[in-house]
Amino acid sequence: MSAATLPGQPFVHYHEGQLYVEGRALQQLAQRHATPLFVYSQAAMLAALAAYQRGFAGRDAQICYAMKANSTLGVLQVFARAGCGFDIVSGGELARVLAAGGDAAKVIFSGVGKTRAEMRQALDAGIGCFNVESEAELDVLNAVALERGCRAPISIRVNPNVDPKTHPYISTGLKGNKFGVAHERTLATYQRAALLPGLRIVGIDCHIGSQITESAPYLDAMDRMLELVAAIEAGGIHLEHIDLGGGLGIDYNGDTPPAADALWAQLLAKLDARGFGQRKLMIEPGRSLVGNAGVCVTEVLYLKPGEQKNFCIVDAAMNDLPRPAMYQAFHRIVPLQEHADHPSLLCDVVGPVCESGDWIGRDRQIQAQAGEYLAVLSAGAYCVSMSSNYNSRPRAAELLVDGEAVHVLRERESVAGLFAGEQLR
Ligand code: LLP
Repeated sequence: MSAATLPGQPFVHYHEGQLYVEGRALQQLAQRHATPLFVYSQAAMLAALAAYQRGFAGRDAQICYAMKANSTLGVLQVFARAGCGFDIVSGGELARVLAAGGDAAKVIFSGVGKTRAEMRQALDAGIGCFNVESEAELDVLNAVALERGCRAPISIRVNPNVDPKTHPYISTGLKGNKFGVAHERTLATYQRAALLPGLRIVGIDCHIGSQITESAPYLDAMDRMLELVAAIEAGGIHLEHIDLGGGLGIDYNGDTPPAADALWAQLLAKLDARGFGQRKLMIEPGRSLVGNAGVCVTEVLYLKPGEQKNFCIVDAAMNDLPRPAMYQAFHRIVPLQEHADHPSLLCDVVGPVCESGDWIGRDRQIQAQAGEYLAVLSAGAYCVSMSSNYNSRPRAAELLVDGEAVHVLRERESVAGLFAGEQLR
């Protein structure tokens, strides 16, 4: 029996053959709260945050958690209490930040399709910055701010045309992507923004992609951003802050992204060398703060041997864990209880949803029998926040473990709740 932490997840470990998140055995939590069940480690979130805080020690920096990664109120509360701001992409996300006790002044609003209603909501709440993604959006935001009798604080999101070397669906800073203003148009767009009376230019922003596992794309993006900052400021427009976005990857399957503090040591050296060391910095990390803080516990329903493939059918599915179906993403799958005597089956781990794309792991060696539990690892980011009710499946419950304490962050949805807003004629 091993007593070891799992790769990339220092707060998930086996103790006497049982899988724990911090001080709590997952088997007991699964029996008590049923499955599928998401369990998060608060210590893991705070440790991930601490790596950025170490990187920024002594600097003027604001960490805005990109809450699209996991927008459950209790998760937001952890980051709000730790002093984080939030990167939002909708009015719904803003409402969640406020409900969780977040500070509106530390909110930045990204996204290519902000509606007028969302702009009004954000102006009334007093958010810190709109990251504007097009020239057309500048005009609309200007008009909405004038109508409200205020000036909207803005950054322009630059598309630096840097290849983040990640999955095409999650690269955002390449020319063909819908995000941001083209690098070559940036200066002209700032000059235009400076003439609009409803806007107040406060910064510059970029975000190049997600699950980035190398430093080079960040270093390139920083070079390109600093060239732009110099050019924009030479034209008489001052930028209070530089926002380098999020995107740092995590270890899903032996991935080796740079540590946040090591990456920022390199990036800060660049800033210092170019005389921007005192500038306020913003970042928008999502996955790297929560991804490896969560697991999804699922029960094995059936083992189904086949001629070409064996299947391990579990009670979690693509509606709970959409990343494999959407991005062919890999999540490690391990048993909650180690049974050295169980036979190991080479199989696809699949859910009950009626789609061939409903798989969670392919060609895995699984050592578990029906009625036993598995944990799908690295499930803290982009799982619950992307979950759906497809096949009329209620969303799973979510728990936060803090040492030995367990907090229910979200109760399992009820089936009646799924159709509560529907009407019969
Ligand atoms: N800022 C902006 C403007 C973004 O678009 C994103 C993510 C982030 C920050 C946070 O990026 P992170 O640090 O989490 O990589 N659903 C996909 C990931 C989509 C990311 C979209 N943008 C997945 O499950 O891999």
